Amino acid sequence: MAHNNNKFGTRLGLIAATVGSAVGLGNIWRFPAETQANGGAAFLLVYVACVLVLGIPVMLAEFSLGRGGQSDAAGVFRRFSPRSKWWITGGLAIVASYMIICFYMVVSGWTLEYLWQSLTGGLYESTQAASDAALEKDFAARMQEYICGTEGPLLCTYIMIVINIGVLLLGVRKGIEKVSNILMPLLFVLLLIFAAVACTLPGAGDGVRFFLSPDFSKITPGVFVNALGQAFFSLSLGMGILITYSAYYPHNVNLGKTAVTVSLLDLAVAMLMGFIIFPSITSFGLTDAQLEGTTLVFVTLPEVFVHLGATQFWSILFFLSLLVAALTSTISISEVSVRFIQDRFHKGRTAATLIVMLPLFVLSGICTLSFGALKDWTVCSLSIFDLLDTVATNYMLPVVSILTCLYIGWFAPPTLLKDQLTNHGTVRARLYPTVRFILRYIAPALILIVLLSAIF
Ligand code: PHE
Repeated sequence: MAHNNNKFGTRLGLIAATVGSAVGLGNIWRFPAETQANGGAAFLLVYVACVLVLGIPVMLAEFSLGRGGQSDAAGVFRRFSPRSKWWITGGLAIVASYMIICFYMVVSGWTLEYLWQSLTGGLYESTQAASDAALEKDFAARMQEYICGTEGPLLCTYIMIVINIGVLLLGVRKGIEKVSNILMPLLFVLLLIFAAVACTLPGAGDGVRFFLSPDFSKITPGVFVNALGQAFFSLSLGMGILITYSAYYPHNVNLGKTAVTVSLLDLAVAMLMGFIIFPSITSFGLTDAQLEGTTLVFVTLPEVFVHLGATQFWSILFFLSLLVAALTSTISISEVSVRFIQDRFHKGRTAATLIVMLPLFVLSGICTLSFGALKDWTVCSLSIFDLLDTVATNYMLPVVSILTCLYIGWFAPPTLLKDQLTNHGTVRARLYPTVRFILRYIAPALILIVLLSAIF
């Protein structure tokens, strides 16, 4: 077979790459925070239902568009409906994904800095014999000082951009697939070790109970809205990523099985984080600790590592995992725009990569400084970082997902979904009628509720 750098080479490789996209900061720092804020196990239950009932069908819609259309996220709509405006859906996904890269790159830079500080030990230099309160204050102050700085955070953001450029330039099979094949198993092993250690700490049982035994009275409409939003973000839906990646899937890959595998692995990583965070905070009596994203990762977990002993070792392993999760996600989201520039403007891989990535030195740079030097640049009292995050994740992603469901359910060529799920009649897809029904009626209606609740 001719070596085609524009397709994933193996089934394992395409799963690793797709899971690499799905597993990101969404699993590692958003999921525990959402679980804590929404009542623990009750949230988990609703979350699992959202992944299975809504996430997988919408993922299949994106896969069908991508592999059927063999183009970028906007090009697939043009291909199937040339004289319509449906390409705007893909265009919106591309814009949203580019907005997300701008600020996500900043956060992945922070993880790089924390990995570095774990390696040098700098993060823990003043922690000997301090009380919990003092520790927490110290880590919080450190984080604040770091992210509000200029040269340090900028340098880390830039290093992350350069690493992304390197992988993207190597292409789909030699870059994205190779890197994911190495990094994703590593991430799983690291998180498994952490979960095993956390669950065997004295007093871990209370944390596990909070995470696993549901209090059904806590299931409210708000919990549902948050769970659905989290599920879609975590599965990388509505960003054009899955359309783009599935265009690189070989034609004989079973999309249904792939969607189930990817979703379950993504769920597994979120659950592993639950088994890491909740037992450790109950065991060390940190139950009042804030689990909101940055605080969890840059304040609470370092505190946990101090209690755990072998502090630096655990800290290095954790920030390495975080970096891996962030890197495979930024690669996937950058690929959306790279593929778009390649297809739409007939550019080579190198030119397209540079056209997409070089502006980030300015744009992600601005996001990096939006905590410090540029904190006065605000719109509706949101910093540039928060503005991009809010507009893209809360508004644009749901809109793209609703339109994608409606398109596949009602407007796309009628055989597209079925042909893609059955590989043109060569494999069985028993759930096809259910998937189609969900995409036509249920998913658009429920995502609309999430969108409306973000607006009002
Ligand atoms: N699923 C990713 C996550 O959980 C979402 C994402 C992908 C965000 C790519 C940014 C870039 O973090």
